[in-house]
Amino acid sequence: MIKLVKKHDRIEGTIRPPGDKSISHRAALLNAVANGNARVSNFCVGDDRESMLRCLQGLGVQITPDPQCDVSGQPDCFLIQGRGLQGLLEPTNTLDAGNSGTTMRLVTGLLAGQSFISVITGDDSLRRRPMGRVVGPLKEMGAQFMGREGDSLAPLAVRGGNLKAIDYTLPVPSAQVKSAVLIAGLYADGKTVVRSPSLSRDHTERMLKYLGGDIQVDGLVATVGRSEFNARDILVPGDVSSAAFWMVAGSAHPNAKIRLEGVGINPTRTGVISVLESMGANLSLENIREGEAEPIADIVVESSNLQGVDIAGEIIPKVIDELPVLALAASLASGSTVIRDAAELRVKESDRISATVQGLSRLGVDIEEHEEGMVIRGAQKLVGAPVNSQGDHRIAMTMAIAGLIADGETAIHDAEAAAVSYPTFWDTLASIGV
Ligand code: S3P
Repeated sequence: MIKLVKKHDRIEGTIRPPGDKSISHRAALLNAVANGNARVSNFCVGDDRESMLRCLQGLGVQITPDPQCDVSGQPDCFLIQGRGLQGLLEPTNTLDAGNSGTTMRLVTGLLAGQSFISVITGDDSLRRRPMGRVVGPLKEMGAQFMGREGDSLAPLAVRGGNLKAIDYTLPVPSAQVKSAVLIAGLYADGKTVVRSPSLSRDHTERMLKYLGGDIQVDGLVATVGRSEFNARDILVPGDVSSAAFWMVAGSAHPNAKIRLEGVGINPTRTGVISVLESMGANLSLENIREGEAEPIADIVVESSNLQGVDIAGEIIPKVIDELPVLALAASLASGSTVIRDAAELRVKESDRISATVQGLSRLGVDIEEHEEGMVIRGAQKLVGAPVNSQGDHRIAMTMAIAGLIADGETAIHDAEAAAVSYPTFWDTLASIGV
């Protein structure tokens, strides 16, 4: 699918971004092994949601849409019938995680705790992404794996069960790896300790605490024990990573005002807000409130005079999914922006360093590729051109936001990739006047 986006003189509107993908995945997976039933409303939308629900259903979990509690007018409320920690069933077929790295890594942690055999795989992109980072610690706990290239690539065959607790220091600040080990820790004999090199999203820890699991967090150290817990209803906050596209649109466009409602503002996720603020963005948080397990706010963003900044070090895990769209903001800011310490971008749904550099340079941006980041010389005039999403949802949406600021017309090829996390993105783009 090709989407044409034209420059627009004024953008304005109120947007309610879809439910947070990372939180929805934790809510589904942990309620699936809790005791009792839970309604998860404002559940994320898109292909990644189907991937997680399909895998859990493959393990015998009943998950049904519940139109009574839909928030957005689309099917986004699900009743999850928890099977308890020991109630999952041996899957009769391969589990398919589609394009979703979070599904594959979190479900693999869950499979490590099961004494049955299972096989998990994904699409072309996911079968190229590194799984050794979860397989390594899960093997240390006692699970058995078989996979390509030394058990580091899917499809992965798993026979778990009889796990023993480990004390594990993460080699990369990855929330997916941390979560996989914590989830396996729910099945292990003893206390499993996970130490992170820097703070990454802590939704698993928060969700486990909310459901009454045995979890303690002390700074960068999370400790989990084996314990049953109860299913609980939850309203998922809006996804700050989806909101990020509109934050950049609102601040980088010369004539814009956008209000974003009900957005999750967990401090391990709001790196994009901090970076935009340090760039001088005219952005404010209103109506800050505590949700069930996560803080929420409305965000108002208006046209701003952005300046280049350095983005590096400990903030990187808090902004990892927003770096492509921040590179776009940087190209419209005065001065240069340097993004460092972001090698993880190379192993996302696409190689996001090279995809961002290729896409933005097609629009005339002076952007340089580095092994672990990029350098963007800002204050540039973007000119519309044909670009390709490389099958990556965040690249498709970054290019669409670029298109509404670039002169002329930007043709986004493989635009359907946006549906992985934000199927209503194109309708929302139309609703703000584009
Ligand atoms: C996620 C963690 C991040 C992020 C991904 C979602 C999660 O990946 O890029 O989109 O839900 O835990 P890593 O943990 O691999 O950095």
